[in-house]
Amino acid sequence: MRTVYIETYGCQMNVSDSELMFGVLGREGYVRTEDPAAADVLLVNTCAVRDHAEQRVLGRMGELKRYKRPGDVMGVVGCMAQRLGPKLLERVPQVDLVIGPDGYRALPELIARARDGQRAAEVTFKQWEHYEDVPPARDNPTSAFVTVQRGCDYRCTFCIVPMTRGPERSRKLADVVGEVARLAAGGTSEVTLLGQTVNSYHDGEHDFADLVRAVGAVDGIRRLRFTSPYPTDFTPRVLTAMAETPAVCEYVHLPVQSGSSRTLKRMLRRYDRQQYLDVVAALRGAVPGLALSTDIIVGFPGESEADFQETLSLVEQVAFDDAYTFKYSVREGTPAVKIKDHVPEELKTERIGRLIDVVRRVAKRKNMGLVGTTHEVLVEGPAKRGDLLQARTRTNKIALLEGPAGWIGTYRRVRFTGTTGSTFTAWPLEKEPEELVTAWR
Ligand code: SAH
Ligand code: F3S
Repeated sequence: MRTVYIETYGCQMNVSDSELMFGVLGREGYVRTEDPAAADVLLVNTCAVRDHAEQRVLGRMGELKRYKRPGDVMGVVGCMAQRLGPKLLERVPQVDLVIGPDGYRALPELIARARDGQRAAEVTFKQWEHYEDVPPARDNPTSAFVTVQRGCDYRCTFCIVPMTRGPERSRKLADVVGEVARLAAGGTSEVTLLGQTVNSYHDGEHDFADLVRAVGAVDGIRRLRFTSPYPTDFTPRVLTAMAETPAVCEYVHLPVQSGSSRTLKRMLRRYDRQQYLDVVAALRGAVPGLALSTDIIVGFPGESEADFQETLSLVEQVAFDDAYTFKYSVREGTPAVKIKDHVPEELKTERIGRLIDVVRRVAKRKNMGLVGTTHEVLVEGPAKRGDLLQARTRTNKIALLEGPAGWIGTYRRVRFTGTTGSTFTAWPLEKEPEELVTAWR
């Protein structure tokens, strides 16, 4: 019996792609292992969005080397593999194979060749590739990622993704619905639809509004999420579909990148500050109680203090529930490299620090206001520390509660009893009447 170990970096689509690779290799009789020392095949699924992510992988390859016994195969897959291609084989001697996001079908063949001593790279884009016949090997029975769109046709000037994931294409709606129905029949009740600009989904016949309605109508699907949408692709049809589909969760991750219209223009984002705010208002109108998170880049070339101040004020104005913040990272081959006035590293560090302070303050204020409110949570597993359970609301808030392990994978009603500013402690409402009686006595 042969075993495979995959270490996954980067976004949720990489997590989903790793499940596909386990599927491809599962068909060949491979068994998954969590222990690199026990693996016959070691794969690192990589991210190329920032230089930092790539440096981490290179460091990690050095560490993983010691688990590679004679006859074992080591591979780099994913976005960094696509970006560097055969160059990775030259740079990292212990690497036997390099495969980009469209090449995972070639895994068994390239592994066999590596065993014969031939190192190889497979980095051609395949416009038709959706891995439709590959059953992904997922390990969470309750919640599933479902990729509905691959690649990206947008050209944000800072971003490497169009070069690592190739042109945009959507899966057929019927294929997506078929997969979700099979998942639901097996007990999955939460799905997250994935795409780089997921709400621009179009399979030639159906748009994202149709997809939301069709997936939301699958029997047993109680929570429907999607990530990441592009702000200007929330058409009135999509907003109405969200409003009319009960499974759609009251949470959207809506990358803004900057609060300055001048910077947004140079990023080639397709909206300005006001248009973004209009999208936020439209979403909140369609989905009452909506929680919002975002992605923000600081120190994009030419970003002035005034531009940065506009980002800070946007965070206050929208009152995001959370934000993922990044220092701009130069990506070779992207248009932003040629923009003048690159921001010095110290200034990026200083700005990201100030931004994180504002993000935390805004989130804390919102979360304090939620203490005492009641929510439906999905219990996801044991908490990282202590013997509590970790659960998630429809609005994507994390709550820790006391309860039996048997609650994992089930839905509960809870009341928030406190917050750290970002996560909550919660009390299961089943327990409440008894406690109230005790308190009253
Ligand atoms: N369309 C994808 C974006 C993938 S990249 C999505 O919406 O999920 C994820 C995030 O990384 C982006 O939203 C952006 O905030 C950040 N990012 C991308 N390129 C970057 C760069 N060159 N430097 C810093 N951050 C970057
Ligand atoms: Fe990147 Fe912009 Fe596409 S951030 S993934 S080019 S939408």
